[in-house]
Amino acid sequence: MQLFIDTANVQEIRTAAGWGILDGVTTNPTHIFKSGRPFEEVLQEIFSIVDGPISVETVSLEAAGIVNEGRAVARFHKNAVVKVPVMVEGLKAVKQLAAEGIRTNVTLCFNALQAYLAAKAGATYISPFIHRKEEAGQDGLEMIKEIRGIYDRYGYKTKILAASIRTTREVLECLNAGADVCTMPFNIMESLYHHSMTDAGLKMFLDDWKKVPPVKLFAAAPAGR
Ligand code: E4P
Repeated sequence: MQLFIDTANVQEIRTAAGWGILDGVTTNPTHIFKSGRPFEEVLQEIFSIVDGPISVETVSLEAAGIVNEGRAVARFHKNAVVKVPVMVEGLKAVKQLAAEGIRTNVTLCFNALQAYLAAKAGATYISPFIHRKEEAGQDGLEMIKEIRGIYDRYGYKTKILAASIRTTREVLECLNAGADVCTMPFNIMESLYHHSMTDAGLKMFLDDWKKVPPVKLFAAAPAGR
């Protein structure tokens, strides 16, 4: 499963990219607003940090406008993926963009039927929103499993990009449900590394290491003792 970061905060993107496990980025209008920076400027910086798919969302509500925005996004950078809300006009635009070889990410998906329609329209990615659905008292993970089943059964190539992730448990469940990609906030990605028993075990090992007589092997290494 590929790992994307869901933000337009370049410090966070830079840090996560430095960890060596980041495959791509998803942005949305809220992320751009929160960055407090001009749209083109923040995008340019994100594209310079990550050499992978970067979703940029359109804001028109009619197909012609979405297609124009999508073409502009695609011209902006070769790694751009055009993010389009799942709606009639959105999927009309996705079909046109796909015909032009432009990659799309259909967003704001809340059920498997919407994911089916996005795949029929030729979407590159579908973004089912897990946590927002869970918050509404509905089963977000079941939705991922249903989409996986439908795509596999009918041979749709659209990739399942699990979105709206707010817990590490949801990341694990996406792995188990067969998502192709999971996008998450920086704090969740960082939390994936941690376990209290890892910290306790590391402390014990390092405390004991201090009692070992000096060794030659690590002499040149900066860390340790
Ligand atoms: C999807 O790509 C969206 O940017 C995102 O995952 C929305 O998540 P939220 O529910 O945390 O806002």
